[in-house]
Amino acid sequence: MTRISPSILSSDFSNLEQEIKSLDKAGADWIHIDVMDGCFVPNITLGAPIVKAIRPHTRLPFDVHLMIRDPLAYIPDFLTAGADIITFHLESESDTKETIAAIRAGGAMASLSIKPATPVQAVFPYLDTLSMVLIMSVEPGFGGQSFQESCLEKIRILRREAQKRDLPLLIQVDGGIDENTIALCAAAGADTFAVGSTIFRADDRKAAIQHLRIAAQG
Ligand code: DX5
Ligand code: ZN
Repeated sequence: MTRISPSILSSDFSNLEQEIKSLDKAGADWIHIDVMDGCFVPNITLGAPIVKAIRPHTRLPFDVHLMIRDPLAYIPDFLTAGADIITFHLESESDTKETIAAIRAGGAMASLSIKPATPVQAVFPYLDTLSMVLIMSVEPGFGGQSFQESCLEKIRILRREAQKRDLPLLIQVDGGIDENTIALCAAAGADTFAVGSTIFRADDRKAAIQHLRIAAQG
C-alpha cells in the first residue's frame, strides 16, 4: 500500500484550514508537517501551537517531521498537539533511544530520519523499536529541491534489512518526489512519500495524488 503525505511546507500559511481540508478532499493519506527551528536547519517554520490549531480540521493522521536540534525536549508538546507519527533526526542532539521511547510512550508511531550524507546502516541499531524510517532525498530545510538518486541504494539496503528481520517497517522518502522519482523509490522498497511542490503546484490536487499513487504502483 502506498501512502501519500502532502507536505504543508508548500501551502498557503495564511489559510491553513482551507489547505488541510483541500488535501483531505484530494485523497491524502497523511498530512506531512515540517517543523524547523533555524538551528538544525537554516529555516524556521512552525511549532506545536500551529499543529494543535489545525488538528480539528481533518481526521487524517498528522505525520510530523521534526528538523530541530533537541527533539526530545519537544515530544510532549507535539504529542499533546495531536501528532500521530513523529519523525526526528538521527543527526539531532537528543539521545536516540530515549526519544524513540518518549514517542512510543505517548502512543505515537516513532520514526527516525537520516540526511543524505548519513549512511543507512546508522539506523540499524534502532530498527526493532521504529515504525518508520524517513530517508531524506534532499538536504532538509527547504521544499522544491531536486531529488538525490543516492537515496535509492539506501532504500534497497534498508528494505532488505527489514525483510531479513521480518519487521513491518514503513520506509518514507522526502524531497523532490514527483511521478518519476516516486516510481524509482517504490521499486527500491519505499511505501510512504512526503510530497510538497508536486502536489501544490498542480491545478488539480486530487489528480496529482492519483497520478503519484499510480506511478508508485508501477
Ligand atoms: C524538506 C522537507 C520536505 C519538503 C518536501 O526539508 O522535509 O518535506 O517540504 O518538498 P518537495 O516535495 O517540494 O521537495
Ligand atoms: Zn519533511
